[in-house]
Amino acid sequence: MSRIAYVNGSFVPYNEAYISMNDRGYHFADGVYEVFSYNWKGVFVDAIPHFDRLRHSLEALDIAFPLSNKSLLIVMHELMRRNRCREGYLYLQITRGVAPRDHVVLDPLHPVLTLFVRPHVFKETPPLLKVFTTPDIRWKRNDIKSISLLGAIMGKYQSARQGGDEAWLYNDQGFITEGSATNAWIVNNQGIIQTHPVTPAILNGIVRQRLLKIAETLSLPVEEKAFTIEEALKAQEAFLTSSTKGVHPIISIDGHPVASGMMGPITDKLQRAYWHFQHTLTKDYDE
Ligand code: PDD
Repeated sequence: MSRIAYVNGSFVPYNEAYISMNDRGYHFADGVYEVFSYNWKGVFVDAIPHFDRLRHSLEALDIAFPLSNKSLLIVMHELMRRNRCREGYLYLQITRGVAPRDHVVLDPLHPVLTLFVRPHVFKETPPLLKVFTTPDIRWKRNDIKSISLLGAIMGKYQSARQGGDEAWLYNDQGFITEGSATNAWIVNNQGIIQTHPVTPAILNGIVRQRLLKIAETLSLPVEEKAFTIEEALKAQEAFLTSSTKGVHPIISIDGHPVASGMMGPITDKLQRAYWHFQHTLTKDYDE
């Protein structure tokens, strides 16, 4: 089966999908992205919050939103269909456009929109993950889903070299901000679910937003408050969230087991609830 990408208005086979050498994404990482999960019922999960966040990222860079939500969704579904993808992710990237290399371009350019698909089966039983902590060396606007991911990649690389599945990034005060490509959570030693509040220090994950609602429905106590590495090491449970992973339990931090080194009961509850939500959705959103 040939894989099809979407590049600026055309569906093209992967090996014919090109962007310009002068794309500002290539020269300056001058662009943003989104990752959507797509369930086996043919639905993009929480599409509207993803579009809202995309709009927020684009506005911060003064790049025009290229299509209406509705038109974008039509293109996204068509790409899934052409790839015969029944479950997986869709990556969407928008750069400012194409221009000879110059740091500032004042005239608006034609944004470059590219999409590609990654088939994936979301398993009901999640893997048990290990994380290693690394300094958060990223910039001060992590609320923008920038395609510039060097700080995140360097952190994840450091973790991976020690056998970690994800890096948890800590700031100068020793607080965990988030993971390199996920949001970070603990169930603290008082049994309260804790995650970093929404500030420019983190990306406000779409799964994070959904899980807060799920926790409320389940009457589980939550505090949006940063936690330190020490607090994480004393936590009853730890887990991470993202559109590519859903909810995944963390069983060790920096080589130390979290509590018993197994998935905890609250993580189990939240993971099941999110999986169920993700798998039973039958509409991208209610119009
Ligand atoms: N990453 N924090 C960071 C830094 C992220 O890159 C991501 C997502 C998240 C979780 O956001 P969401 O729940 O909306 O997926 C938090 C995507 C999946 C990626 O880069 O592949």
